[in-house]
Amino acid sequence: MSLILAIESSCDDTSAAVLRDDMLLSNVIASQKVHEQYGGVVPELASRAHQQNIVPVVDSALRKAGVDKGQLDAVAFTRGPGLLGSLLVGVSFAKSFAQALHIPLIEVNHLQAHVLSHFIRTDAGSQPPQFPLMCLLVSGGHTQILLLKSHFEMEVLGQTIDDAAGEAIDKAAKIMDLGYPGGPIIDRLAQEGDPNAFTFATPHIPLYDFSFSGIKTSFLYFLRDRLEENPDFIEQHKADLCASIQKCIVGFLLKKLEKATIAHHVRQVAIAGGVSANSALRNGLQQLGVKHHWHVFIPPLPFCTDNAAMVGIAAYFKYLKNDFADISLPPYTRD
Ligand code: KG4
Ligand code: ZN
Repeated sequence: MSLILAIESSCDDTSAAVLRDDMLLSNVIASQKVHEQYGGVVPELASRAHQQNIVPVVDSALRKAGVDKGQLDAVAFTRGPGLLGSLLVGVSFAKSFAQALHIPLIEVNHLQAHVLSHFIRTDAGSQPPQFPLMCLLVSGGHTQILLLKSHFEMEVLGQTIDDAAGEAIDKAAKIMDLGYPGGPIIDRLAQEGDPNAFTFATPHIPLYDFSFSGIKTSFLYFLRDRLEENPDFIEQHKADLCASIQKCIVGFLLKKLEKATIAHHVRQVAIAGGVSANSALRNGLQQLGVKHHWHVFIPPLPFCTDNAAMVGIAAYFKYLKNDFADISLPPYTRD
């Protein structure tokens, strides 16, 4: 039996979780509101907010789990990729904690953690995926199609050659002046809109790769032309615009995921990362599952965006292999 404290601080969410083996006991997330007024994450402010949040967040995670720090068997942290100033707060905290308690440290890759979130157990009944597993990882910084042969054997079959899907959605929201982060706002407004009101072309990119910068530009030019004719165009068509751009991006993601899954004869299919919270993507994968008789895995909403529970589950699988980190390990910003 293992008790692991996990810490996530790669971007703008400070999170701590406690797991008993693969069972989640607590998962506390402090999201930073300070960035909203700037329309994006300000690294300096993110780092400062992590410093303010980390002690109360860890304290709360331990209390909610009913675990005393003296009972912990290991401390896990996100080593990268992410913002250096943000990562450093979690890394330094985890190292000091582990050293003070004389327990081992476990380093976790943020992207692997997103994918492994499907293995978090929250009740005795939930069944984890089996291998091989196809996973579309879609976040603010990454868009990849991964083929998993085991927990840590993840082959990248395709990825974006420019912007990430989340970045494209956030930029579309910014163009319409909807606020930050744009993903959840577009998702909400799209519920009231017609996804077929406007069409935006997706580029022809070979195999399982993606490109989103062209979609963003065509959305920008389309709106610029319409606004010249009617300055209230966005206001009058907000829901239809959100539904249409969402359909374009989600359709592109699902088309490639479907192609990769069929070509590799895989029947277990998952989505992970912040954009997997998107209702059109979740519904779309559900429908593909019915069509192809796949077993689909859609993460519960708290495990889509950044959280420490996913760091904890990745750490648990490393703990089983005695895969511990050295105290001198520095964070990395890129994958
Ligand atoms: O995984 P995540 O929390 O952070 C990174 O590792 O990047 O992903 C954040 C991204 C943002 O781009 C955000 O707009 C997007 O996930 N996102 C969504 C939704 N919720 C979050 N995108 C579309 N629909 C949503 N409901
Ligand atoms: Zn993330």
